Amino acid sequence: MSSHKRTLVTAALPYANGPVHIGHLAGAYLPSDIFVRYLRMRGEDVVFICGSDEHGVPITIKARKEGVSPQDIVDRYHKVMKDAFSGLGINFDIYSRTTSKVHEENASAFFRKLYDEGKFITRESEQFYDEASGTFLADRYIIGTCPKCGNPNAYGDQCEKCGSTLSPEELIDPRSALSGATPKKVKTSHWYLPLDKYEPWLREWILEGHKEWKTNVYGQCKSWLDGGLQPRAVSRDLDWGVPVPVEGAKGKVLYVWFDAPIGYISNTKELLPQSWEKWWKDGDTRLVHFIGKDNIVFHCIVFPSMLKAYGDYILPDNVPSNEFLNLEGDKISTSRGWAVWAHEYEQQFPGQEDVLRYVLTANAPETKDNDFSWKDFQSRNNSELVAVFGNFVNRAVVLTQKYFGGRVPEPVKMEDIDRETLDAVKPCREALEKYIEGYHFREALKEAMNMARIGNKYISDMEPWKLAKTDMERCGSVLYTCLQLCADLAIAFEPFTPFSAEKLRGILRVGVDAGSDHRAGEGAPSENFFRDGEGKALHTRPYGKPLEADGLVLRWNMLGSRELLPSGHELGEAVLLFQKIEDSVIDAQLARLEAIRAAREAAAAAAAAAEAAAHVEPQKEEVTFEQFGAMDIRTATVLEAERVPKTDKLLKLTIDTGIDKRTIVSGIAQYYSPEDMIGKQICILANLAPRVIRGIESKGMILMAKQGDGSMRFITPQETVTNGAVIG
Ligand code: MF3
Ligand code: ZN
Repeated sequence: MSSHKRTLVTAALPYANGPVHIGHLAGAYLPSDIFVRYLRMRGEDVVFICGSDEHGVPITIKARKEGVSPQDIVDRYHKVMKDAFSGLGINFDIYSRTTSKVHEENASAFFRKLYDEGKFITRESEQFYDEASGTFLADRYIIGTCPKCGNPNAYGDQCEKCGSTLSPEELIDPRSALSGATPKKVKTSHWYLPLDKYEPWLREWILEGHKEWKTNVYGQCKSWLDGGLQPRAVSRDLDWGVPVPVEGAKGKVLYVWFDAPIGYISNTKELLPQSWEKWWKDGDTRLVHFIGKDNIVFHCIVFPSMLKAYGDYILPDNVPSNEFLNLEGDKISTSRGWAVWAHEYEQQFPGQEDVLRYVLTANAPETKDNDFSWKDFQSRNNSELVAVFGNFVNRAVVLTQKYFGGRVPEPVKMEDIDRETLDAVKPCREALEKYIEGYHFREALKEAMNMARIGNKYISDMEPWKLAKTDMERCGSVLYTCLQLCADLAIAFEPFTPFSAEKLRGILRVGVDAGSDHRAGEGAPSENFFRDGEGKALHTRPYGKPLEADGLVLRWNMLGSRELLPSGHELGEAVLLFQKIEDSVIDAQLARLEAIRAAREAAAAAAAAAEAAAHVEPQKEEVTFEQFGAMDIRTATVLEAERVPKTDKLLKLTIDTGIDKRTIVSGIAQYYSPEDMIGKQICILANLAPRVIRGIESKGMILMAKQGDGSMRFITPQETVTNGAVIG
């Protein structure tokens, strides 16, 4: 870790075109929140920045689909996301948005400075233009036939049917999604950041200077750099975004990946209008970007090049990035509804926010893609949170209530095992710190859980409920030890499961020194927090009165010490930290997902069937009039019909042809039952040479219309005609 005076933590600004799901949470938001909570507990000065990314083509597309404005879309999802994050205790100092005034001005000024200093190059290119609607078309707005699979509705950037990445030029018969018109190529000019010029510097800075970055991050950077960097357009022809602040740039906006990362700066500025520069320009600030793996190139290569071009900004010290999380073995997909949404979880599992935080951290896709399953969710809750952490705390507190009037007993009969147990927390703490500082949150959480295991094993081995009958002093010393461990847990779990840590502090009747808190910006102190004399935030108890002035306060550096709670300290009420999750709850979640999977499969099957049915055979080879005339086609009526035994496909029909009554065996049992056929007038080829099918002589053939999907319908005259009428 570099030496630094303060840490600026950012979490990728999520697109405001859909709600937050567990993949987002596991990728960037929980790790960053854990990191920040930890730093705050350690007394570091830290700011935690996030907000909605509200520009970009997907937002305009969604708006068009719903017939509302892009502003309506981003207003909706900004609120959903903001509430979802705060509901899960992800405590950004600010969660703003890239449609804010501060951001528009800031992004504009950023562009303008680079422009004025000649840091951009301009390039002309040909781009598809829709004359009917008078606009250039983003790749997504061009639809055509996929050259790879023939899907007639492929997008200009991707075919959703076969998954190929495309460019609009590759589409067969391209058309505009706006008007349906055939787009024309028209010249347009854009500003480009010449990344190639920054390549030598980037190689040095990343490949030499940041070998400590996670291997997935370093590896992606290396392969981009080895592939050679190209100038990258920073503007687009679009009407949704920050207007390019240059004469003659009408109809052009900043490319979303140019403006969004500047949003980190804008949001800091909005939060701390007077002191923001210290966070972005002082070399003593450590900058850390938390992102998902699809964001690596933008945060490690593009944005740093922008900052470098600008001049006086600091660069990221690290860019911890996670891989992807799957759900029940399938890729999470917003459009297919295959996700667990944060806001829905909060509604369905009120008071159990920490369970999701715990499970997502325990399963974090830190080094490879990982899977979330509801069964695992249940078992981690029931056998770890409830059975180990919760059970230990509950036994310690309830026994203290029962035998010691709810006050921490005197440690009058301490033995080696007690001291050893208390000291065993220290190496866990050291490992936990090392892991968090190295961005290995999964391992860090294991260490916190180890502390709970130590406590749970200790109380089970010592059996204070038995000691209470024989040796009250010894019982008190054991419970004293247990309660110290409970206080350790209240500290160690604060970054991971803050709601439960807070609940535990309520049970222990202690506060916590939560360190720096910039949430109220430079205005009045935030209401959520009580502060000590120096303006530091002291968490309060949500389950009781605010912490009294002379109350106990837990601090990170107390973790692993031998006395955190003095004897005589009065505990609060014993409430359960965690609740068992029943099978029925999990089954309901699985049923919901199963319904989505089934609906998706049904829709895919229906689409495939519709497509097959629409398929029309090409015309057959020419025949002469004579050849046609040789065929004796007539009307006839079905008199009797029965299934041919031991077959699925065949019906045996007795028909009146007008000439005779005869038997025809026909392969239509999949489409018609015998009852369907009796009495129906049909058309037959009467003079087809007889054939023996399943021992039955079949004379002639029933004329059937075979559709594209292979299904068959018989042909019946529009009006009843006499049997034996010749068709021709
Ligand atoms: N909106 C992007 C995404 O969800 C992330 C933007 S991060 C920022 O993938 F740096 F641009 F802000
Ligand atoms: Zn395709």
